[in-house]
Amino acid sequence: MRDIIFATGNENKMREIREIFEDLPVRLYSLKEAGLVSDPEENGKTFAENAFIKAEAVHALRPDAIVMSDDSGLCVDYLNGEPGVYSARWLGRDTSYAEKNAELIRRLEGVEGEARSARFTAAIACILPDGTRLLSEAHMEGQIAKAPAGQNGFGYDPILYLPEYGKCSAELSDHEKNAISHRGKALRQMQEKLRDLLAAEAR
Ligand code: IMP
Repeated sequence: MRDIIFATGNENKMREIREIFEDLPVRLYSLKEAGLVSDPEENGKTFAENAFIKAEAVHALRPDAIVMSDDSGLCVDYLNGEPGVYSARWLGRDTSYAEKNAELIRRLEGVEGEARSARFTAAIACILPDGTRLLSEAHMEGQIAKAPAGQNGFGYDPILYLPEYGKCSAELSDHEKNAISHRGKALRQMQEKLRDLLAAEAR
């Protein structure tokens, strides 16, 4: 059994990750479970760069383990990709998501239909003990809604309208969201990559 340390302190993420990785022959630890503290400055220009900054920092502490981390956010095409890698910090970390969401809707006033296109992106970075780096990235495509809707999820979920489903991301159950979300898809891609690698190692 190999150890995987996922560089997050977020319990909701850990639950989702455990569910997706449950049939891999690995032991999965959060940072806290691994007894580690790591909070490097996320100064990358892309989600992938930031995911690797977090993974590298933990790899330096535990080079014997498989280390994984994620970075994600919302990109709005009409706003040239904002808030992007600044999604959590946009308008300040202490600004509520009700305010951030209202401001995004305000900035798109008068913008109609497909010009409101936006997506969540998730990048998952993985570093193996030998230094091999793996990356998976996935999206959840939608449009900025004209009004927030739904109580589930977090962050920008109430304003990402998903035309295929006729509802906002915050109107999906956890289970429905995990099946189609940027993070769910990127995690499943990473699970496949690791499964192939561990199988090759075992041969
Ligand atoms: P992080 O990857 O945990 O740093 O999250 C970055 C930020 O992107 C979050 O704080 C949210 O603002 C936003 N974000 C990422 N994924 C989602 C999602 O699934 N729903 C809503 N907001 C999200």
